[in-house]
Amino acid sequence: MALENTNPSGTAAWQELRAHFADMQQASMQDMFTADGSRSEKFHIKWNDFLVDYSKNIVNQKTLDLLQDLAKEVNLAGAMESYFAGEAINRTEGRAVLHTALRAPQSADIKVDGQNVMPEVYAAKNKIKQFTDEVISGSRKGYTGRAFTHVVNIGIGGSDLGPAMVVEALAYYQNQLEVRFISNVDGDHVMEKLKGLNPETTLFVIVSKTFTTQETLSNANTARAWFLEQATQDDVAKHFVAVSTNLKNVTEFGINPDNVFPMWDWVGGRFSLWSAVGLSVALAVGYDNFDKLLQGAHEMDEHFRTAPHEENIPVVLALLSIWYNNFFGAESEALIPYTQYLQKLAPYLQQGIMESNGKSVGRDGNPVNYQTGTIIWGEPGTNSQHAFFQLIHQGTKLIPTDFIGFIKPLHGNHDHHDKLMSNFFAQTEALLNGKTEAQVKAEFDVKGVTGEEADFLLPFKVFRGNKPTNTLLIDKLTPETLGSLVALYEHKIFVQGVIWNIFSYDQWGVELGKQLANSILGEINSGDVKQHDSSTTALLKAFLAKK
Ligand code: F6P
Repeated sequence: MALENTNPSGTAAWQELRAHFADMQQASMQDMFTADGSRSEKFHIKWNDFLVDYSKNIVNQKTLDLLQDLAKEVNLAGAMESYFAGEAINRTEGRAVLHTALRAPQSADIKVDGQNVMPEVYAAKNKIKQFTDEVISGSRKGYTGRAFTHVVNIGIGGSDLGPAMVVEALAYYQNQLEVRFISNVDGDHVMEKLKGLNPETTLFVIVSKTFTTQETLSNANTARAWFLEQATQDDVAKHFVAVSTNLKNVTEFGINPDNVFPMWDWVGGRFSLWSAVGLSVALAVGYDNFDKLLQGAHEMDEHFRTAPHEENIPVVLALLSIWYNNFFGAESEALIPYTQYLQKLAPYLQQGIMESNGKSVGRDGNPVNYQTGTIIWGEPGTNSQHAFFQLIHQGTKLIPTDFIGFIKPLHGNHDHHDKLMSNFFAQTEALLNGKTEAQVKAEFDVKGVTGEEADFLLPFKVFRGNKPTNTLLIDKLTPETLGSLVALYEHKIFVQGVIWNIFSYDQWGVELGKQLANSILGEINSGDVKQHDSSTTALLKAFLAKK
């Protein structure tokens, strides 16, 4: 069954939210905190090792009720059933969307076209386990009989960002293997990443669902040519493995079919890290940790599937984001993890969020008359505080921000961790309260700033605050909590796509750029520039003249 087709802006809840927004747009969070001592008690969700405090938002109970009404009117509950049941909700590609099946228990019965997919999911998991155990233990060897020391993941988009983010996030749990990632077709990138590697001890994991992606195939060919400077064509089978649906192209490349790990068309590239696309993760941290990552994601799936929507973390965060995006006109959201381990979380979620919900045609085939996908960006704290936080505090734009922090440090450095977390708490408090005139004047008194100078400086130092934040306070960064965190954002994407009445699981816009690049490459190779707009023609000619 397809997803229902309801223009959210035509719902009664949307109209009521509009009217309610008129009352709320100037509402002060500080006043709401003062008026209600139990605000944080009301507006938080505790689940497993997560405490999600959403009280620092420009909302009251009525806002939340109306947002929940909106979810009901578009039948979010029904859409969730279709999603988990493997219905072809990716309608424009005629596919199910079942990354949740990749982390479901073996006993589950999840059908695609009437066929339970769990046996193939577990066959792939067993293959990942066996392969990664052999590489990590050193029993699987390279062409000269030496154990592998380095793994190079070659892929792009969903075939790179997920594994790269997780390998970095779980570096604390990493074994002796060094894992590198090559993604960009930029030849300097691949050459830099190959630097210092020994072909005898390097394993290449080529990840491409289609095995037709220009960047990945170019990088794989370059890596193979580099390898063949010392080894022979027969040795390729020992050093190159693939994750793909395209067995034909993979075997033509010289990869042994036994070393091909499957992907399925019911798992989108940007949601695929839970499949064999996560092979590099399993190599870096061992299969058991990879499985714990999946387990954590599955627990979030269950929370999302079963918790009442008022206490449902992905639902609540998605609705809050819709409140700002569609009523306050906020254009972007920031995501600030207070751990350096999560420095790739924002780039990873940029693909998840922006490739999924960057759509302007509704499920009815008509252009939407409301805003859809949010722009997502971020960097870890405290670095980001010294980079772009000024704009969040005092700029003209409203940027709802998620703060993600952990109670326990991994290396036990409590001195640093307490400093880190004091910044974490201080920022959301500062964004809430800003600085009053009275506070600034009191500071002036202490510093002895008086007279005209004080009058001049006052407006620059006073700021209103009232900037919305969500705080995700998690016990510790582990494979399980990371899995839950990533799954949380995946489900947030889903909820927003359902409400915005768009198809979240295709990416036709990206495909156009790929097609054009291929035809322009032909022109660059032949030197024969075809008809383009005058700008593109002139630029191509300038490039060809000097290249
Ligand atoms: O960016 C577009 C895209 O199709 C992504 O969705 C996908 O993750 C990426 O390209 C790579 O595709 P493939 O795994 O087929 O090489």
